[in-house]
Amino acid sequence: MAVAVDVSRFENVSMAPPDPILGVSEAFKADTDATKLNLGVGAYRTEDLQPYVLKVVNKAEQLMLERGENKEYLPIEGLAAFNKATAELLLGADNPVIKNGQIATVQGLSGTGSLRLGAAFIARYFPGVKVLISSPTWGNHKNILSDAGVPWSEYRYFDPQTVGLDFKGMIEDIKAAPNGSVILLHGCAHNPTGIDPTPEQWEAIADVLEEKGHMPFFDVAYQGFASGSLDDDASSVRKFASRGFEMFVAQSYSKNLGLYAERIGAINVILPTADLAARVKSQLKRLARPMYSNPPVHGARIVANVVGDSVLFDEWRAEMQMMAGRIKGVRQKLYEALLSKDKSGKDWSFILKQIGMFSFTGLTKSQSDNMTDKWHVYMTKDGRISLAGLNLAKCDYLADAIIDSYYNVK
Ligand SMILES: Cc1ncc(COP(=O)(O)O)c(C=O)c1O
Repeated sequence: MAVAVDVSRFENVSMAPPDPILGVSEAFKADTDATKLNLGVGAYRTEDLQPYVLKVVNKAEQLMLERGENKEYLPIEGLAAFNKATAELLLGADNPVIKNGQIATVQGLSGTGSLRLGAAFIARYFPGVKVLISSPTWGNHKNILSDAGVPWSEYRYFDPQTVGLDFKGMIEDIKAAPNGSVILLHGCAHNPTGIDPTPEQWEAIADVLEEKGHMPFFDVAYQGFASGSLDDDASSVRKFASRGFEMFVAQSYSKNLGLYAERIGAINVILPTADLAARVKSQLKRLARPMYSNPPVHGARIVANVVGDSVLFDEWRAEMQMMAGRIKGVRQKLYEALLSKDKSGKDWSFILKQIGMFSFTGLTKSQSDNMTDKWHVYMTKDGRISLAGLNLAKCDYLADAIIDSYYNVK
């Protein structure tokens, strides 16, 4: 007999709003206009605007297939060869932190899952400690912290006047936070603004964190992808590590190895002693076990194979430079198109100064709506465009859309 449900117990479940970033891709798919352009999600596309699987990933997969690797469960902390490779990639293999065993590394479910594990650790061991995040930041930071039960507030980061870094505001807000707060910093290629502190500014940020007893929590989602150099893009993290900070660092291989759907990344905690690192690692494992038990193996093996083989590693670096170079190329072309079409003399050079996948255009929500509704250009409503989804052929069209939206919509 069928159960008669008069009133469902789920009746008070309301419809959740679409995700501000991933919802853009859904709307893009539903648009039938031929000119449509998806600049919403931060995923690399070829000049033909197609998804790209790195050749070096295919090679690593081929090797894995030939070796006939099994699908047994990984340990809770993940694949040992991956954990070693990822920490070395972050800090440099000869870094004393690694040599002395002062780092607890646990494989995570890409950047998001690694941040979530770090947040769960903060909730358990530093209850009530506030995490400060930049305003603006990658939208999911707020969800991750809130769902982990970690209080957060924002520090100023973006100056709409200069479309640059509000360094003074940033320092003031970090100084004003209670001593011992956690400060979430983007290691490189800040999302969504594409604006990073200079080396001198990083030094000054480290000074304030030290003075206030704050702890850095680096989110490194774009190592190698910002400048094309793995070492340069890790320089902020390495600077803080060399100054002796205890800190969290989340890593992702979604962008730099194009392993978006493999969900491969890591959470690292850098500590003053090897003993503390062992204890922290044991507790990270304790947090991971009831959440997802153990992480997936495929992406971990790809990373371990690529980083652990000098030939594949060099090929990876070349492909990363190619991807970063293509994005720099469209950035330049878009700037030139804006300059030649806009006769008002407005300074668009901020586009060239921004780095990484994104450009923060300064377009308001209603202007961004116009980009989508009139021009079929899909982007997040904070005015961010992913240049990784743009090609040279569409730069003129995009410049027309930006100029129309900027000047004709309030
Ligand atoms: C700043 C930042 N952190 C973390 C991530 C995490 O991405 P994933 O979970 O795919 O590694 C992203 C992805 O867009 C990001 O931009």
